[in-house]
Amino acid sequence: MVGEAEPVPLFLAPMSGVTDLAYRLLARECGADITITEFTAAAALTRQDARSWHKVECDPRENPFIPQIFGGNIDEMVKSCDLLQEMADMIDLNFGCPAPKVTRHCAGAALMGKPDELVEMVAQCVEISQVPITVKMRLGTGNGATNALELAKRVEDVGASRICVHGRTLKQRYSGESDWQAIRKIVNAVDVPVIANGDIVDADSAARCLEITGAAGLMIGRAAIGRPMIFHQIKSELGWNNSLPQWMEDNGGDDVDTTAIKAVSRLWAWRRYVELDSEVNDGKGSKNRLRHGLSFTKGLPGGKAFRIHLHGNRKADEVAKSVEKFFIDLQQ
Ligand SMILES: Cc1cc2nc3c(=O)[nH]c(=O)nc-3n(C[C@H](O)[C@H](O)[C@H](O)COP(=O)(O)O)c2cc1C
Repeated sequence: MVGEAEPVPLFLAPMSGVTDLAYRLLARECGADITITEFTAAAALTRQDARSWHKVECDPRENPFIPQIFGGNIDEMVKSCDLLQEMADMIDLNFGCPAPKVTRHCAGAALMGKPDELVEMVAQCVEISQVPITVKMRLGTGNGATNALELAKRVEDVGASRICVHGRTLKQRYSGESDWQAIRKIVNAVDVPVIANGDIVDADSAARCLEITGAAGLMIGRAAIGRPMIFHQIKSELGWNNSLPQWMEDNGGDDVDTTAIKAVSRLWAWRRYVELDSEVNDGKGSKNRLRHGLSFTKGLPGGKAFRIHLHGNRKADEVAKSVEKFFIDLQQ
């Protein structure tokens, strides 16, 4: 067991093209406490774009349901919050996305370079909303001084209920390391819960991040792609969870970290993903299934060759069968 960390909620990070409804439900079954939709453009929600509304689809099994929205226009963000009231338990505002297609509209992390606008946006969203408004931000734009600490205090003052901080700047995108010390300063400066994000990949890094930041929760992104079981693994290695995960129960409680066992847990998770994906997408499955299939097979022997073969496979049911066979063959 690693360290003596007290349990805190584990969040599945919002990830565009990854955290679809089926994957969020699966992550919950695998021990994630809180899930958030991928970011959805407020501009598209307000013009009733069907694809964007599909991204904020909810299901009673996902409780609380937290859609995440982004945009550079305050009126559109407020209108979206209004439209989401009936279905959302909380609404998360994205001030962390570094993608140029988002930042060139001065949305996502670029808004950290316009602090007054960002704070006004949060204030107006809080004012219109009956449900709590939370924010996800980076440390700053990376041009000039980092301002996440100042912004955290200001968004708390106007009513944000929770703040998630990815310890990198916009300029860094994903380079360098997440600065957990900087997150600590924010934790110390505000009363609302602060969630630490960036570079948590296993129980060891989770325990270290918690020790350094003192955060109220941990959010895991890239390390959960293709590995939804990471939540249960972290919890059991930190002694936070005594129950056996389903894949271990099905396997007589055996948790030896061999390729065969990895294949057992991933096969279990893959089958469950396919079930959920079919269930929530009218029996047909989503276009994300191929991407998930590619991710699930990463880090396993023969995975690279298999992925080249899988790439040409576009039909959801064929992807399901191919990936399943890959895991079954690995157990032989
Ligand atoms: C493929 C991908 C898509 C992402 N999409 C979003 C998003 O829609 N909303 C958001 O707030 N962050 C998004 N992020 C950022 C993650 O939520 C997270 O902040 C970041 O990956 C750092 O955490 P990690 O080191 O655990 O991956 C995305 C990241 C990745 C890798």
